[in-house]
Amino acid sequence: MKDMKILKCLVAFVLCMATGGAGAQVLECITPGEIWPDDKGEHINAHGGNVLYHEGTYYWYGENRPARGFTTEVGVSVYSSKDLMNWKNEGVALPVSEKRGDVIERGCIMERPKVVYNAETKKFVMLFHLELKGRGYEAARVGFAVSDSPTGPFEFIRSLRPNAGKWPMDFTKKDIKRAMALDEAKYKEWWTPEWRKAVDVGLLLKRDLPGGQMSRDMTVFIDDDGKAYHIHSAEENLTLNIAELTPDYLDYTGNYIRLAPGGHNEAPTILKRNGVYWMITSGCTGWDPNEARMFRAESIWGPWVQLPTPFRGKDADKSFHTQGTYIFKVEGTDEYVFMADRWMPRSLKFSRHIWLPISFEEDGTPVLEWKDSWRF
Ligand code: DGJ
Repeated sequence: MKDMKILKCLVAFVLCMATGGAGAQVLECITPGEIWPDDKGEHINAHGGNVLYHEGTYYWYGENRPARGFTTEVGVSVYSSKDLMNWKNEGVALPVSEKRGDVIERGCIMERPKVVYNAETKKFVMLFHLELKGRGYEAARVGFAVSDSPTGPFEFIRSLRPNAGKWPMDFTKKDIKRAMALDEAKYKEWWTPEWRKAVDVGLLLKRDLPGGQMSRDMTVFIDDDGKAYHIHSAEENLTLNIAELTPDYLDYTGNYIRLAPGGHNEAPTILKRNGVYWMITSGCTGWDPNEARMFRAESIWGPWVQLPTPFRGKDADKSFHTQGTYIFKVEGTDEYVFMADRWMPRSLKFSRHIWLPISFEEDGTPVLEWKDSWRF
């Protein structure tokens, strides 16, 4: 089996070289870190996004980023493919608004869009991280949009901070009492042992309770039973929340837990295999890469146990200079792909897409190893 994989990889590499690498018309392989041309020969402009399989076609959604600057000038892009290597540009799934003062006005920031299909409502639902124009990263909201078609156009519905007024479901009366007793004024200095302890027991959770929890880096996970979960960086990126969505995926049930309070995790990605949930995240260093983290649980509600990074080999401590964005399963197989971005802040448009197949140890632990070239 392993030999077959190596052989497939070698063949892919030779084919790639023979066809002139990533610049060729028909791509025969994935070449992580290279320019990835679409059907028009343009580098795929879909960053921080996800891949959705629907009725025989894969759709790739992501941030349409400008060549210069950090704000969203176009919206969320969508591409389609039958083979996961050759992608047709399907245009803009969710455009920014040209109306002054709109929450998704051109110049806002839309990050990490994830589109999922709701089999009950037959709607495509997009959740994304939204920052309001001219306000940096302070809004920390999630946006919701829907469409009847995978390629859009998506209709923007609203943005909010999740779970206003709700305590996490694993917070006991005693936990709530302790959090309520915390005096914010006493913890002005960050990173002290006292501050860490206070964050752990709900200092920022309590602060954000009335208006809802912050929502920055995020993903959406659909479990085998069709339930959807919004996983987002909350509490100034210090704590991850796993929040259950309503059956239409457009609101919150109020059930949520905190994961790794004070652990400073961004870029959550998740897969479930053989009944076990694995989450791969990054640390928080802006556009710079850092060492990934991994968590394991047997229930979405935890307990989640932290494990070492799944990256192995050279530059594993920098996650091969990437930050994860999504994990998808190749339809009809037991193969999973880790999608990541190699951010290029000087020209985010040209940030590279790093897709790597996930291998698994005997006990199911995911492993990521570098590949110059590979194919499905
Ligand atoms: C890291 C996040 O993962 C990205 O999505 C983006 O928000 C950058 N930080 C901005 O610095």
